[in-house]
Amino acid sequence: MKKIFVGISGIGSYLPEKILTNDELSKMVDTSNEWIVERTGIEQRRIAEESQATSDLAIEAGIRALENASVTPEEIDLIIVASSTPDYIFPSTACIVQHKINATKAAAFDMNVACSGFVYAMATGANFISSGVYKKVLVIGAEVFSRIMNWEDRNTCVLFGDGAGAVVLEECDQDFGILSYDLGSDGENGDVLIVPAGGSRTPASANTVNDKLHSVQMDGKAVFKFAVKTMGKSTIKALDKAGLKIEDLDFLVPHQANTRIIDSSMKKLNLSKEKVYTNLNKYGNTSSASVPIALDEAVKEGRIKKGDNIALVAFGAGLSWASIVMKWNRGDTNG
Ligand code: COA
Repeated sequence: MKKIFVGISGIGSYLPEKILTNDELSKMVDTSNEWIVERTGIEQRRIAEESQATSDLAIEAGIRALENASVTPEEIDLIIVASSTPDYIFPSTACIVQHKINATKAAAFDMNVACSGFVYAMATGANFISSGVYKKVLVIGAEVFSRIMNWEDRNTCVLFGDGAGAVVLEECDQDFGILSYDLGSDGENGDVLIVPAGGSRTPASANTVNDKLHSVQMDGKAVFKFAVKTMGKSTIKALDKAGLKIEDLDFLVPHQANTRIIDSSMKKLNLSKEKVYTNLNKYGNTSSASVPIALDEAVKEGRIKKGDNIALVAFGAGLSWASIVMKWNRGDTNG
């Protein structure tokens, strides 16, 4: 059977308009612009309007990716939404997107792998195409993390932001597109980054609300160490599987959590800064949306050209990690 190669045929992103700067945050909690910039690289983040839920951001990004791919919603076979902040426990956010964009024949489901979610979802979506089951898959990473922040906890509330990014996956030319991926998990250390209540272990109650157990709790130092250890390792593993070496890598789009994490990981990999994309200064950590938003901006800025070997790498709660290596399959100026 002929091998089916899978590439990105369209990409788009959406950021809510409202900006929350570090100076504004320092009026809400005991922090400062200097501290946040020095320790994280973040200068501001976007915050969704009260009326906007995750599906609203996902739809905007999804429509932009479809337009970029010149694909209509009716042609889409499958929608996967990666998110840790779905509209509801159920129905899935993907089903809400499916209905609202009128993707009449699409199957739809959510994936929750926290900040690694988009890369996991992209690998999953690609498998549906390479196995011959589907032809066009819309993969979206979308988050409204501002809704699960404890705005009194300076350890976490300065880090995250809202946003969405999306890609359309389709068959592409031979030897282009996704070459390999590396997915992994370490559930043993899952409690270092957690939203403790609201699930079946600790359902919502007056106490869980009072104790702020519906927001993110994090051991920042443990996550930092895990991230630095994992990003390089996973990138190398995925490159290995593709038969490539670090010298062959033209561009890397890492999860946008902290510039110090990215810098330390890249130093370990011996990868020069020019080959690594960052935009977390503008958006903070948008969790599963961070990789597709960064990839979209890198493409629109002309940083990636046809034939480039690129890697997408993410890490997050779970703990979890995910990398994809691909040979960029598009050559036009819009990506
Ligand atoms: N403003 C001012 N001070 C702050 C602060 C803030 N927003 N947040 C924490 N501090 C304080 C701490 O309370 C601590 O004070 P103390 O020494 O009096 O106890 C001090 O700053 C240093 O804290 P520390 O935890 O050592 O800082 P750090 O250099 O490790 O940076 C993080 C903290 C959270 C920025 C860093 O650990 C990190 O980025 N971790 C990874 C988080 C992440 O990416 N999570 C998402 C993964 S998907």
